[in-house]
Amino acid sequence: MKKLSVAILGFGTVGQGVRDVLCNHQDRLKEIAGIPVEISTILIKHPEKHHTKAPHVRFTTDFQSVLDDPAIDVVFEAIVGKEPAYSYLRQCIIAGKHVITANKEMFQAHGQELKQLAAEYDVGIGFDATTAGGIPIIQTIQHLLQVNKINRVQAILNGTSNYILTDMRENGSTFDDALLKAQSLGYAESDPTNDIEGYDALYKLKILCELIFDEQPVWEHVKCVGISQISAKAIKQEAASGNRIKHIAEIALTEGAITANIAPKSVSAEHPLYAIEGVNNAIHMKTDIIGDLTLSGPGAGAFPTASAMVEDFCHIVNKHMKAEGKVTTIAYS
Ligand code: HSE
Repeated sequence: MKKLSVAILGFGTVGQGVRDVLCNHQDRLKEIAGIPVEISTILIKHPEKHHTKAPHVRFTTDFQSVLDDPAIDVVFEAIVGKEPAYSYLRQCIIAGKHVITANKEMFQAHGQELKQLAAEYDVGIGFDATTAGGIPIIQTIQHLLQVNKINRVQAILNGTSNYILTDMRENGSTFDDALLKAQSLGYAESDPTNDIEGYDALYKLKILCELIFDEQPVWEHVKCVGISQISAKAIKQEAASGNRIKHIAEIALTEGAITANIAPKSVSAEHPLYAIEGVNNAIHMKTDIIGDLTLSGPGAGAFPTASAMVEDFCHIVNKHMKAEGKVTTIAYS
């Protein structure tokens, strides 16, 4: 029986989410691909941690065996940090495998190069999960906003920060308690420094900036401030005057120059990001044809991120694999 085989690199929160979404939506995926979609291999780092026994799935610590397996057509990458994720994806693309990544730290540094490499080797590359979790912001900008010109973006791009700020204001939690909750819910990175110091939002803003403006400001000159120094008192004071503190990442094109800024800001009830609460992210865009457009939704967590990766997978199946004749457009029966 013909099957579409995929591999997952990394089996933390996101990798496990991808496994669950692929396993729990077999019928829908079979309708899209025309043949069953099967997880053939999962690359893990610590074999002792993973006791999951899934029939037909091979768990391995050997990346080379994934690369050398010609049956694997698509690779989902859910590793933390630039390396070895970058090297792995590069090799997968050169080997003709389609790739999908959730790795913002790696992609903000190497995304341009990987996109070019994927075009050269005629394979699909999905990166919607790198930015704003389950919100299809990359696909929206790439496929829906083709004529619109985006002039300005203001966004909440870190779910952990927004969760902490919301929890401190609504429940009077301390910063440390709110962070612990965000960690236990699978929102924060294992080392949450990037979340609370603004770097995670910066990575995502860089990815958006490249996509929207096809160029970057001098990032070394851009102010990047996180939420770690926000006191409960400041949050309370703002709330008393009807405002909320939000961690806002911003880019704008003004008179031919790109400006950027990442910092906590006090916003009033009229601001488009005021009502974005908890783990949600939002991207507010000013465009020349539509005018103002805001997309919001869950910005972190296993399923929103896995959803973005699996939607990318379906896009790649439709755009690349059907043309290659690897999958059929006729529903499998
Ligand atoms: N730690 C990230 C966040 C996960 O809180 O937004 C999603 O990229």
